[in-house]
Amino acid sequence: MSRDTGDNLDRNHSGNLPMTSVMDAYLSRRSMLRGSLGAAIAMIAASGLGGCLDSSAAASESPSGPSPHTPKQTKLALDFTSIPGSRTDACVVAAGYSAYVLAPWGTPLNSAASPWQADGSNSATDQANAMGMHHDGMHFFPIEGSSEDGLLAINFEYIDQAALHPNGPTRDANGKRPAEEVRKEINAHGAGVVRLRKVDGRWQVVDNDPLNRRFTSASRMALSGPLRGTDHVRTRYSADGTHCRGTNNNCGNGFTPWGTYLTCEENWPGIFVNKGSRPEDQRRIGVGTSSGQFGWESAAGDSTEVADEFARFDVTAHAASATDDYRNEASTYGYIVEIDPYDSSTLATKRTALGRMRHEGCCPGLAVPGKPLVWYMGDDSNNEYLYKWVSEAVWDSADAHPADRLQTGAKYLDHGNLYVARFDADGSGAWLLLDVDSVTTGGGTLGELYGDLPGIILNTRGAADAVGATPMDRPEWTAVNPLNGDAYLTLTNNSVRTPHQVDAANPRGPNRHGHIIRWHDSDDQLSLRWDIFVFGANAGATADINRSGLTELNQFASPDGMRFDSRGVLWFETDNSEPSVADYTNDQLLAVIPTDLVDARGNPLPLNAHNQTALRRFFVGPNGCEVTGITFTPDNRTLFVNIQHPANWPATDRATDAAPAGVTLRPRAATVVIQRDDGGAIGTG
Ligand code: FEO
Ligand code: CA
Ligand code: CA
Repeated sequence: MSRDTGDNLDRNHSGNLPMTSVMDAYLSRRSMLRGSLGAAIAMIAASGLGGCLDSSAAASESPSGPSPHTPKQTKLALDFTSIPGSRTDACVVAAGYSAYVLAPWGTPLNSAASPWQADGSNSATDQANAMGMHHDGMHFFPIEGSSEDGLLAINFEYIDQAALHPNGPTRDANGKRPAEEVRKEINAHGAGVVRLRKVDGRWQVVDNDPLNRRFTSASRMALSGPLRGTDHVRTRYSADGTHCRGTNNNCGNGFTPWGTYLTCEENWPGIFVNKGSRPEDQRRIGVGTSSGQFGWESAAGDSTEVADEFARFDVTAHAASATDDYRNEASTYGYIVEIDPYDSSTLATKRTALGRMRHEGCCPGLAVPGKPLVWYMGDDSNNEYLYKWVSEAVWDSADAHPADRLQTGAKYLDHGNLYVARFDADGSGAWLLLDVDSVTTGGGTLGELYGDLPGIILNTRGAADAVGATPMDRPEWTAVNPLNGDAYLTLTNNSVRTPHQVDAANPRGPNRHGHIIRWHDSDDQLSLRWDIFVFGANAGATADINRSGLTELNQFASPDGMRFDSRGVLWFETDNSEPSVADYTNDQLLAVIPTDLVDARGNPLPLNAHNQTALRRFFVGPNGCEVTGITFTPDNRTLFVNIQHPANWPATDRATDAAPAGVTLRPRAATVVIQRDDGGAIGTG
């Protein structure tokens, strides 16, 4: 998210900023890198991870050197024409496709919710039983493998108070927020699961389906992993530190090979206030000191308040002990949260082992039997880091269909190692372990700084500072190529990086347009090889800004949401307000097939002036919006994306319709369903 409640401030004062001189080293090693990435792909093919490389060639290759063979070329090719930019109150999609509005904010999920009212008058109870606000990350979970019947697990990232209430937010003469308004705001956040079914070719919500459910900023959840049961998370609500309430600012997402959804808590620090002395982790993550961003804590003491539902947002220590107040409430936020969409009797579970930060997304690597599972995670603020989780247990494909999905989640997500990335100027990199024996750049250990693993996790950012991770240009989503295991990270922009603070992996300062970095991990998960896949830019920019040679037909800025489909097409979305591109087009969805970009020897290439036509604009959203969230049905014939914070949309159930001139709508974020008019697969026929 970027509008209204965005907080991407630079709170990294670690000094982990390499010198400008690394640029020369970066530029001089680029040709070497291409060979090395080729070797990495050859290695993965040889080890059985590759899905499409020529098996006879792969079997004869050494994992230690560049491939002497040209990998078998995939026949996959984009078959749509890149569309121009658009700046209207309607969506635009490539020729031959249609786009429909599905499940906008306020759509009832069950009969406890009244239909959505255009005057903003729906109650807090309605909101708890309906689609939340500002759709973001999502994942389609098929029912018995179907591409016409499934569950959409979806995030509701934040709220637009002006649209949520009839006349915007109110306060009484003493500055207190009304309890009903606060409850409605709490209930508009979080995540949800909604049953979808395709009927006569069109997707629709299955009202009252028993699997429909909402998770709000008040829902009871379980704590799992290293923080569970520790002093850090004991509260008046859960004296034994095993449970907590709510999830908030759920931005990007992930999923698991055993059929669960991962929702990621991003800009949650804003909902809390600490008017006393903030502990170091709260300073580093950005918990405020004067009031919560919505003033939820101001409703405390209302005659209708139940179980401290408002008081818990004031995390000031004021009672005799932690189990008498909510000083630890913020320590129950900042995690990856696992949800079993197929069993509505289960609690959402916070997997604390995966670190505490402003989590953006959590994309899995390839699941290979006998190897650990990995997930990649960005921490979206200026100069924050890229993280990786590596499970202790190795993947057993029998776990793909377990009797108890959350028990399987505990197996792979509660025990393992958390790493943070360092990108070196020569195209190599290291995954730095965050554990008690990890050596800091100061020569001590993380154990000496933070005591134990729970202490390290509580201040994950601080631990990453201490081991010398590379500060990045706002890490957003990650994506993994199903064809070769290459991982990608959107670095959306960084307005505070100066020309003197650039490094090889973040080479523009300030970085107003963002870029996408790509890497391949070593088999032992401890090192990586990387390159920059594409630089965002306006077409008319200087060569130093427009380093990928983009044109009007694919210029973009601020890449954010991103996903590979199962065929190896990389789709990425933008969340841009940089005028040089925003004056040309609203936010958009672009596509490219990275494995098609190779040199004469078959080594992978980044996008550049000679091959940039491979990057095509597929979809543009309406004025004011961000295009985010992306998932496909198993047959790739339906693409779901989300339109978040539109200005004056949707007008009808066709996403490409605009409101008549002069008509002002109460805006509603919504999922957009894109289908090919001939019924074929999206993007490649
Ligand atoms: Fe919620 Fe980093 O975007
Ligand atoms: Ca963003
Ligand atoms: Ca985002």
